[in-house]
Amino acid sequence: MRILGIETSCDETAVAVVENGVTVRSSIIASSKATFEALAGVIPEQAARAQVECMIPVLHQAVQEAKLTLFDIDAIAVTKGPGLLGSLLVGTVTARMLQSITGKPLIGVHHTLGHLSSTWLEVTDEPQFPLLTLSASGGHTDLWYRESHLRGILAGRTRDDAAGEAFDKGASMLGLPYPGGPEIAKEAVGGNPLAFAFPLPLRGEETLDYSFSGLKTSLRYTIRDAGYDLDTPIPASVRKDLAASYQHALCAHLVDRISYALEGFPDTQEVHVVGGVSANTELRAMLALVLEKKSPSLILRAPKKLAYCTDNAAMIAAAGYFLWLEQHEKAYEAFATQASLPLAETLMQISLRTRGE
Ligand code: KG4
Ligand code: ZN
Repeated sequence: MRILGIETSCDETAVAVVENGVTVRSSIIASSKATFEALAGVIPEQAARAQVECMIPVLHQAVQEAKLTLFDIDAIAVTKGPGLLGSLLVGTVTARMLQSITGKPLIGVHHTLGHLSSTWLEVTDEPQFPLLTLSASGGHTDLWYRESHLRGILAGRTRDDAAGEAFDKGASMLGLPYPGGPEIAKEAVGGNPLAFAFPLPLRGEETLDYSFSGLKTSLRYTIRDAGYDLDTPIPASVRKDLAASYQHALCAHLVDRISYALEGFPDTQEVHVVGGVSANTELRAMLALVLEKKSPSLILRAPKKLAYCTDNAAMIAAAGYFLWLEQHEKAYEAFATQASLPLAETLMQISLRTRGE
């Protein structure tokens, strides 16, 4: 089953062709991020205009690299939300146009379900359920306990900012460009992660939720109390230590809740990290250490390529495949456990905050 995926929820224009949810035949991503580097975020109108301009060339390249024609595609999957309205429209209108030209089925995919499916891309050994997935990006931070691709429980979510947002806003305070996650990670190399102390949010509380706003405020006060402002810029070596310490604190909070979740879900076979923040090497290293200590048999997975951590269309095509399978397995579904919630429906019920809101 070959699915053409389209993703345009933020500033990327991405099209991919994926076979059976796993084999990536092509994955093309054009981004207008560079336009927003000097700002603290994306300007929606500008992002959508850039997407209108590059959608057709990106689509053309994705189909060509897959060595197919549009008529060899079995279905079209497109991100239906959440995201920036104008940007989403560029993707969904393109998908509808392709549907009417080819007559192939159209599958609407929740953006987060796309991220949750990204750890299947290019795998050779299939992940085993039940598993815990931390999905952390610029728009959401969720912890899922999943019994299958589309069934699971939203065990925890952020109460305020998303983890990626905390990276982005922290970077802006440190005078680093947007997007802040990769910039903080780069700046942190060689810095001392213990130079500045930050609190561990929700420590000791019986919750799997996240909260990042306190850490963000704490960074602001740390900079202020050290005497730095617009007139007194942060010296390079101090900025390195601040970036390393702040990154360490954000990752420690992400890992701390996963560690606690494993106590509540002892049958967990694997832990997955997805979304833009899963590209962070400090996060992966910290999590690997904690899992090794908890239980060496636990498998840790992140998307195979960094390009599958941040927004991409291959993950949307993969999720589209799992949704399509579900439809075709309704008879089997009747026997499935009633204990868990249908993931796709839960995702649609919760209104995830999107960047810029
Ligand atoms: O998943 P994504 O591409 O878009 C959304 O759905 O939001 O995630 C983008 C977010 C941004 O906030 C960015 O700063 C963060 O992911 N990010 C990172 C890294 N790479 C991207 N955060 C920490 N470390 C990274 N290496
Ligand atoms: Zn995303």
